[in-house]
Amino acid sequence: MNSFTSGKLYYGGDYNPDQWSREVWLEDVRLMREAGVNLVTLGVFAWANIEFSEGDYHFDWLDEIIELLHENGIAVDMATATASPPAWLTVKYPEVLPVSYSGVRHSHGGRQGYCSSSPVYRDRARLLTQQLVNRYSQHPALRMWHVNNEFGCHNPMCFCDVSAASWRRWVLKKYGTLSELNSAWGTSFWSQRYHQWDEVLPPRETPAGTFPNPSMMLDYYRFSNDEILGLYLSERDAIREIDDVHPITTNFMSMRHTRFMDYWKWSDEVDFVSTDHYLIAEDPNQNIDLAFQADLTRGFANGKPWLLMEHSTSAVNWQETNIAKADNQMIQNSLSHVARGSEGAMYFQWRASVSGSEKFHSAMVPHAGTDTRTWRNVVQLGELLAANEALAGASTVPARVAMIFDYESWWALSQKNLPTSQIDYPALAHDWYRALWQLGVRVDFIRPGLKAQELSAYDLVLAPMLYLMGESQESELMDYAANGGSLIASYFTGISDERDTIKLGGYGGKLIGETLGVFVEEFSPVSAGVEVKLSNGMTSSEWSEISQARDAEILATFTSGPAKGSIAVAKNSKGQKPSWYVATRLDDKSAQAFFASVVSELEIATEGGNGVEVIHRGGRRIEINHNEATWSISEA
Ligand code: GAL
Repeated sequence: MNSFTSGKLYYGGDYNPDQWSREVWLEDVRLMREAGVNLVTLGVFAWANIEFSEGDYHFDWLDEIIELLHENGIAVDMATATASPPAWLTVKYPEVLPVSYSGVRHSHGGRQGYCSSSPVYRDRARLLTQQLVNRYSQHPALRMWHVNNEFGCHNPMCFCDVSAASWRRWVLKKYGTLSELNSAWGTSFWSQRYHQWDEVLPPRETPAGTFPNPSMMLDYYRFSNDEILGLYLSERDAIREIDDVHPITTNFMSMRHTRFMDYWKWSDEVDFVSTDHYLIAEDPNQNIDLAFQADLTRGFANGKPWLLMEHSTSAVNWQETNIAKADNQMIQNSLSHVARGSEGAMYFQWRASVSGSEKFHSAMVPHAGTDTRTWRNVVQLGELLAANEALAGASTVPARVAMIFDYESWWALSQKNLPTSQIDYPALAHDWYRALWQLGVRVDFIRPGLKAQELSAYDLVLAPMLYLMGESQESELMDYAANGGSLIASYFTGISDERDTIKLGGYGGKLIGETLGVFVEEFSPVSAGVEVKLSNGMTSSEWSEISQARDAEILATFTSGPAKGSIAVAKNSKGQKPSWYVATRLDDKSAQAFFASVVSELEIATEGGNGVEVIHRGGRRIEINHNEATWSISEA
């Protein structure tokens, strides 16, 4: 198989020539050359323009545009065109359309209007993929395959009867017997016991004020992830049967609000990782979010290069207020990704649409044309990427600190009836990352379940709200901490096992009770907006708990409320290196002070900080100064 890296940084974006005339195509390729574009993603939403009715395929326009791109030296990231089924398909086979949690069957007209379990959708998608691969796998313009688009974005779970049958098969395979299933889901509660397999339904909407069984719901997240991954695999394998040369990817959505796909699992199935990232324009910490998601993607890629497949030159069209990017901001944003291992910068989309629901989304060629700030930035970024091809194929230097990022804990914590509705898994992860970013400490992201040996590559491992923790993960973390590693765990870590059954005998199981030496008796969340004062002068919010120090040095206690006198921050020094427990959500200043003391005690090197990022990749030192909106790339 070809490597996905090419010795150059990729530059380009989604290209939808089927929205434009042939005259515009000629202008497109001319402008692409002017901007230094060397890769476009073709045909993501083109199904209805390729297959007019069942089996009636039309490739003339695609043949022509691929040829034109090739003549102009532009390579193609070829989509399987399956992201949005055409109207004829859903009219002919209405069972393809997904059904919501509340039992509503959706209509054709948006996108991703399919049930991932639907055999009809899977067959039609596979047949279209085969057609495209047969036709284009030998074309010299083809560089890589792009399966579907942002799987699970709009239809992460389907609750139809076809899904229900598939779900029962999944559950049967996982649990084998009904008694095992009943025990895993704790169905003695609220008369939920199952006596026959066909009583097991998807966790559909229940009477007002009640919610489906949380263990079952957690499994439905797992099932839905597996089901959509299965759909990806069926298209991927259809490509591989015909073409074993070109690398295959699908674009993830490593974004703060996207939780449905467990990208750790997905990353095992792609030839290289690619992702999409969009800023939340009103987020005051958007630069840190950018760094977080790029580092997380680098984690999915296991440190190897990956590709930023989509982001925006300026405003998007799907937020409350779609604020434009500042002059040069798109360049600076791209660099945050490139520094962290992206093999270039790709955008949605090449040319701004004039109709359809994305007509107000920015693009590389804006509605106003080329005498624009956006176009000048686009050309400038093309020059910058071309001048820095030394970065291509190189990995970013790994960090000394790793954060465990766990989609399954996020799924469990996304449910109702928790101690407080303020629980926000990614928010705590972001708080900790932000404190380290401000200190100039880089962070790697790692999947849950690594062995102590693998964890030992890091001086410090962070476990913010690692709520679900099975025995093996618990013992690996305990071994890591006992044998020279330092750990920081937060409140609500290690609460339940993989089935979301609570561990008895002090919250947090052995990790919090033995390794960190804190016996947690009871939670006492704090009302929204109320500041919590700690005995060491720090402040926090959201969480307090009633606990006893069994074998821990108390660094701070809560000074009021039901948890007054209990541990807010504790340190345990019985391993070769210290570990810490943080029993509340520290505010920014306090989190920074806490992490500064940890970093200094562990002698972890810092570089940059206070708004200046310094990252090393491929023998280059990349500095991005967010305070002054400047950057530099120099030989290290
Ligand atoms: C992505 C999607 C693109 C485009 C973009 C707009 O989620 O893959 O097709 O819709 O968002 O921001």
